[in-house]
Amino acid sequence: MITSVKEILAKAKEGGYAVGAFNTINLETTRAIVDAAQELRSPVIIQVTEKTMEYAGGRMIFNIIKNEVEFYAPEVPVGIHLDHGKSFEIIERAVEIGFTSVMYDGSRKKFADNLDITKKVVALCKEKGVDVQGELGSVPYLGEAGTGEINWDEYMTDPGQAATFVRESGIDALAVAIGNAHGFFKEREVPDYDRLEMVNKSCDNMPLVLHGASDWEDGKVKEVISRGICCFNVDTAIRLAFINSVINSTKNQGRSISFDVRNLLGEAREAVKDVVKQKMILFGSDGKI
Ligand code: G3H
Ligand code: 13P
Ligand code: ZN
Repeated sequence: MITSVKEILAKAKEGGYAVGAFNTINLETTRAIVDAAQELRSPVIIQVTEKTMEYAGGRMIFNIIKNEVEFYAPEVPVGIHLDHGKSFEIIERAVEIGFTSVMYDGSRKKFADNLDITKKVVALCKEKGVDVQGELGSVPYLGEAGTGEINWDEYMTDPGQAATFVRESGIDALAVAIGNAHGFFKEREVPDYDRLEMVNKSCDNMPLVLHGASDWEDGKVKEVISRGICCFNVDTAIRLAFINSVINSTKNQGRSISFDVRNLLGEAREAVKDVVKQKMILFGSDGKI
């Protein structure tokens, strides 16, 4: 059942677990996420980026997700979310299509500009019953730092600013930067747990989202859940499972490679489902519906 992300996150925060917000790009990945959620009785967020909207068609990928949920997992609470919306126009498009939640990512802008646009996004979305995630501090991408060391202080979320941002913007969830980075990347050796705790307190129990942690070991994941994170974005781990499965199947088939692409994609779908299930169990969202 397509559900409000705000509701899914509020339950997770209260219950002391986290939900996965898994990126999809196509039919196979979507089915893998939906099947994993159904099998584990886990609430879930399925999200797409602007690049995926261009690749698959925004309305098309939205309807693939919606149809998959309605047909294969009608009792599972599923939020459909726009990940990293970087312009007001893409937010308007997602709202018009029917997304239940959007992220406005103004994290690379100056504080005042980020706040100003986030407020405008919230005004538009509240009117339509759509939830909004904002970001303060910023989460670097793989390759951004070149080969040099990253200066983490430039990226971190400031707890005082976060309180002002949350209060004045009216957002429903906040993405934070505590030493996390997109992609499989050399991250800050130890996440800044104290900072996370301070942000959690200063933002008065606001649902906090962690991007870029799909390569984190279990101990770190548990630690940040206990300090206020109730949602993890997962993309790279899914891409890797998909690609490795395709590479291995073609390699193993050697010269007798099957030309039935459905065999390859079917195996990739199963590989993605396994990863999604492992994450759901790690986050503690299994059995929570
Ligand atoms: O942070 C989001 C993704 O990992 C980047 O995804 O290549 O679809 O923009 P994209
Ligand atoms: P990963 O690159 O760690 O999967 O993070 C994904 C993400 O944050 C998508 O918004
Ligand atoms: Zn992200």
